[in-house]
Amino acid sequence: MVAKEAIPLLTPHKMGQFELSHRVVLAPLTRCRSYANVPQPHAAVYYSQRATKGGLLIAEATGVSATAQGYPETPGIWTQQQVDAWKPIVDAVHRKGALFFCQIWHVGRVSTNDFQPDKQAPISSTDKQITPDAEPGMVYSKPRQLRTDEIPLIVDDFRRAARNAIEAGFDGVEIHGAHGYLLEQFMKDSSNDRTDEYGGSLENRCRFAVEVIDTIVNEIGADRVGIRLSPFVDYMDCFDSNPHALGMYMVQQLNKHQGFVYCHMVEPRMAIVDGRRQIPHRLLPFKKAFNGTFIAAGGYDRKEGNKVVADGYADLVAYGRIFLANPDLPKRFEFDAPLNKYDRNTFYTQDPIIGYTDYPFLDGSNAE
Ligand SMILES: Cc1cc2nc3c(=O)[nH]c(=O)nc-3n(C[C@H](O)[C@H](O)[C@H](O)COP(=O)(O)O)c2cc1C
Repeated sequence: MVAKEAIPLLTPHKMGQFELSHRVVLAPLTRCRSYANVPQPHAAVYYSQRATKGGLLIAEATGVSATAQGYPETPGIWTQQQVDAWKPIVDAVHRKGALFFCQIWHVGRVSTNDFQPDKQAPISSTDKQITPDAEPGMVYSKPRQLRTDEIPLIVDDFRRAARNAIEAGFDGVEIHGAHGYLLEQFMKDSSNDRTDEYGGSLENRCRFAVEVIDTIVNEIGADRVGIRLSPFVDYMDCFDSNPHALGMYMVQQLNKHQGFVYCHMVEPRMAIVDGRRQIPHRLLPFKKAFNGTFIAAGGYDRKEGNKVVADGYADLVAYGRIFLANPDLPKRFEFDAPLNKYDRNTFYTQDPIIGYTDYPFLDGSNAE
């Protein structure tokens, strides 16, 4: 029998010290099922359903401190209880032979007083509130601009979260530097109106993110650190007048750390070209400039994923919504099988099963 030639997405890739057997990555997906910010046993089922030998999973955004939250029932990793709750989830993923990175997160001003300790104002780079129509139906509270002397404390929260992630057994961390959350609030000029050394020039605006990166690299080693960036995305009123320069500057900072594991970038919003929704593919300069593994995300399917891997545009491709709805996505790609449709209504609901662990596998079961 002649062996079937593997599609590009299902070829191996060496990511730093890690040997991946394929390139289909689970994108970080907030699922709002970690009651009281503590990861739950049902997450072990959910993640291990999506784990494959030599595959890479990125855990949902996980708060670094009590001020980091802005959504209901999202997990944290700043208390020992949370660390202990992550352990069996990480073990379940490892038993399947997959790698597991924890996305560590601070929402900054994408929050309300109700999510904050003592109902205080959310913290940010700025006092500027997100305009109420930035996300339909949501009004975020007016934030409080962090004082310069408070910034090292937040950097230290990220350090501790990274250390805790390693204690919980994760293979590494992904710093959430995307989508309008705290790191981006500093980085992008629409949301940074500071006059201290953390505002103004590109270098100053990136200083906080760079301090977080450098501190975490020092704490757990560059070979366990990745980052997610979205220079072209404009979620939550966060946009930059020169996203290319911003992305390039950040890649240069990552390259200063020998062995920094990966740079994960999100494509700009889908563009409509000739009446069809298309991925704009604007990330190539960053892929070319970055020394480590490059992950692309945003709107990919099997065909587009194969193409960007074959073209050398990305080393790995992260899949969000279709991996959420297809726990056996790599297998479906292998057989070019039809996909389950995702149900938006249950993306962020709290049920431990519905819309979470009940998406069927190819054989019709929803076995682990
Ligand atoms: C339900 C849901 C939750 C998400 N949560 C996160 C998150 O926690 N962290 C993050 O960086 N991106 C998050 N995203 C963005 C995804 O990681 C991904 O970039 C996005 O869905 C686009 O990829 P896709 O077209 O493959 O779905 C989320 C997206 C969805 C649909």
